[in-house]
Amino acid sequence: MRSDKAPLLEVDRLTVRYGLLEALSKVSLTLAAGETVAMIGANGAGKSTLLRTIAGLHAPAAGIIRLDGLDITGLPGHRRVAAGIVMVPEGRRLFASLTLEENLLIGAIPSRPGAWNLARVLELFPWMAARRNRPIVYLSGGEQQAVAIGRALMANPRLLLIDEMSLGLSPAVVRTLYDLLPELLAAGASILLVEQDVTQALRVSSWAHCLLGGSRSAAGPASSLRPTSKPPTSGWPAPPARPVRTSTWSGSTRSFRGSSSAASMHCLRAAFH
Ligand SMILES: Nc1ncnc2c1ncn2[C@@H]1O[C@H](COP(=O)(O)OP(=O)(O)OP(=O)(O)O)[C@@H](O)[C@H]1O
Ligand SMILES: [Mg+2]
Repeated sequence: MRSDKAPLLEVDRLTVRYGLLEALSKVSLTLAAGETVAMIGANGAGKSTLLRTIAGLHAPAAGIIRLDGLDITGLPGHRRVAAGIVMVPEGRRLFASLTLEENLLIGAIPSRPGAWNLARVLELFPWMAARRNRPIVYLSGGEQQAVAIGRALMANPRLLLIDEMSLGLSPAVVRTLYDLLPELLAAGASILLVEQDVTQALRVSSWAHCLLGGSRSAAGPASSLRPTSKPPTSGWPAPPARPVRTSTWSGSTRSFRGSSSAASMHCLRAAFH
């Protein structure tokens, strides 16, 4: 069933250039409230550029970004945060000279309503309480990624943009972090995640897009791209024709782990079958 409501996020033919390099070419996607959408693609496909542009860190050369049907393409980044668009950046970007707690507090936006605050984040990650005064550099990679997620939650996001949560982490840690996402959805966030770890991304998403060389090569239900499913026999359907949200988090729990080349293979398979 299609929703009559405007999607929470609508990206319409977005083109982004770095000088002469066209990093994104007419990329479109929609994301409904309460949904998790995955953008998968290999190194250099343009995934981070897409998230950074939605967050207001790059000005697009062409195209429109809408939040709740309103054009926010020209809105500066800090006003997008105030509107609830919050990013967990690639590589975490924590403040090395600050403690765990200070890194969390930096994410708080007092004007934003919502259930997330320091106490609630410490509840979500119980191990943090005992280490709240520890310099961030003494934490493991997985712990630092959790702090980056916690910092984003402190802003009470409506739309959480997560860039490569799996980067540099062991499969077990990645899985633990991904298993948190239903709780974030239940608290009111919708999630757009970019990943090279295809298995994790498809496990938690209802819809997936593939980026190849800055262009969207395919889009469809995440279930049609999971490693256990058969290759699609024809191109995926167009993104808007989908259920608003499926609340089930099914999927393979096999040990297959995605990689940049796996992401490319999935995209190519979806694009050319
Ligand atoms: N600040 C920049 N200046 C110039 N070119 C850039 C800049 N940032 C990214 N690019 C280029 O734009 C293209 C897309 O980069 P982007 O970082 O968005 O890809 P990605 O899919 O996130 O890759 P990765 O998986 O390695 O993180 C690449 O060719 C990259 O070299
Ligand atoms: Mg990237």
